[in-house]
Parts: sequence; C-alpha cells; structure tokens
Amino acid sequence: MPSMMKDSFGRKVTGLRIALTPRCNLNCIYCHHEGEANPRGEISDEMVVSVARAAAHLGVRSLKFTGGEPLLRPGLAKLISRMPQELDLSLTTNGIFLAKLAEPLAQAGLDRVNVSLDSLRPEIYREITGCWEGDMEKVLAGIDAAQAAGLEPIKLNVVVLKENEAEIGNLIDFSRDRGLILQLIQLMDLHRSGISGDIDAIERDLASRADRVRTREMHRRKKYFLDGAEVEVVRPMDNTEFCANCTRLRVTSDGKIKPCLLRSDNLVEIGTCDCEKIIELLQEANSRREPYFGKERLPALRSAMMADCPRH
Ligand code: 5AD
Repeated sequence: MPSMMKDSFGRKVTGLRIALTPRCNLNCIYCHHEGEANPRGEISDEMVVSVARAAAHLGVRSLKFTGGEPLLRPGLAKLISRMPQELDLSLTTNGIFLAKLAEPLAQAGLDRVNVSLDSLRPEIYREITGCWEGDMEKVLAGIDAAQAAGLEPIKLNVVVLKENEAEIGNLIDFSRDRGLILQLIQLMDLHRSGISGDIDAIERDLASRADRVRTREMHRRKKYFLDGAEVEVVRPMDNTEFCANCTRLRVTSDGKIKPCLLRSDNLVEIGTCDCEKIIELLQEANSRREPYFGKERLPALRSAMMADCPRH
C-alpha cells in the first residue's frame, strides 16, 4: 500500500482529475473550463498513463477524467484500458456521446460516470448549453446506456442557476426514479459573467425535508436522503470547510499539475513521461497546495472539526 501524500496543512491527496481536452461540443453559460487559462496543445496518452501510475504510487485512489468534454478524446477506451488497476476510474461528461461509448468504456475499465444535465426542459437545456435541438434526448439515452453498462453509481451534475431553480424538485424526482445520485453544485462565477443561482434557499428546503443527512469526508459535502432520493450539495465558494477537506490535485489539458481550481499562479509543468520524475513533480505540486478560502483560519477550524467529528 503506497504511503499517502499530505500537504503542509495535513490534507491528504486521494483524488486526481485529469482534463483530457479543452474542447467541448457544448457551450454552457456557466462553464469555468476547469480553471484553465489558455491551454496549449493536448496532453499525450503516454503522459496520462505515467501521471496515473505516479499518482497511484503516491496513494491516490481515484482518477477522474474531465475536459472540456472527455468523450471527444480519440482513443479514449484504449487510454482507459492502460490505467492502473487499483484506481477507481470515472469521468465527467455532458453525455451527448455516451450512448455509443458507455459499453466500450466500461469494457475498457471505466468504473462510473458523472453526467451533466442542468435541465429536463429542452428549451432551458438549450439556453444553458447552447446545444442543438434534440441533444437532451441523447443525454437521456446516454444515461440509459451507462446504466446498462454498469457504470454506476451515476451522478447527475446540476449547477444551480436561476434558469433551473424551479426544476430542482423535478430533478430530484428524476434522479430517484432512475436511481441516480443528484449533485447540486453551487455556481462558481469566476468570470463575473452576471449569471446567478441561489443554492442557499434550495439547501434550506432540502434540510427541512430530508429523512437523513450525511457528511462526506471529501469537502465535508452534505448528502441529503429524501424519500429514496440521494442529493449531494457541493458548495465550494467562500467555504473554508470545503477547502480544509480538499483531497484533490488536477492536471490541465496541456499537461500541468494544478494544485487548486481557483489559482493559475502555482502550476507545475510536467514536460516528461518519466514516472519517477512525475512522482517528484506531483510531490512538488502537493507542497504548493493551500486552502484557497480560510488558510489563516485553518488550524482553528481543524480542531473545531476534530471535536465535532472524531473520525476527522
Ligand atoms: N460552477 C460550478 N460548477 C461548474 N462546472 C463547470 N463550470 C462550473 C461553474 N462555473 C462543473 C459542473 C459541470 C461540470 C462539467 O463541471 O459540475 O457539470
């Protein structure tokens, strides 16, 4: 069992997210492009394989492929088949191309998927994603295919926006009916684009209706259980607890290790496919990790958390 990497704030690294491409077939109004500024070129398969091996060696347990849209990456099934066996392998997709790819990706070793679906109303879906008519149906078919291929548990990603606020109830019902875990995600308006969403009101409502609430270790995310539905609430903004319990490193689509989604001034260029070298680079990136929100308050917060929850 490899030793677990910890940063100077005592935070473990258990998850790695690799952006396989900056390209996307949709154009969502809220997209933060995984915090990438000006990606140049796409990370090679060789480098992805070496990074995954190095990460597994350092105790990383889960690997998520992101983008852009990872399903646009040519040869994705082949790449997945080259990943270390011990990693829990998932990807975040808009689902448009999932119907055809779910089975071959599962065969190649993909464990599960997160599907972004911000609305169940075709006209609102189109407004949010800028997509073509009928594409929402493809996402629904993609979810069916993912279930048939056993890519479960499937998480449905919904960024809470004023455009879809009225649909949250429907999305909860939809997720319950299909056996999906719903993730309601707070909008990160990094570009101050003027779009908005109010996750507070929605979470208050969930809290009042839930049969049971659980707090996950990662990010101290809350998960609400309502009448058979599972709803996770992801609130990164101004959230010191979120940062204090962050267990991630990222790799950008152009091959740089990114210690924090919200920063671009502390990246580590990979520039090699040598696994030994990449282990050192991951350690360097780990040493650059620091909580974006609440760094100065972290020690006090940590002891409060320990008192509050002995497992931490
Ligand atoms: N705010 C919150 N989440 C975002 N995502 C992308 N951009 C944003 C943003 N501005 C996340 C969503 C989406 C996935 C592709 O990335 O979860 O489903």
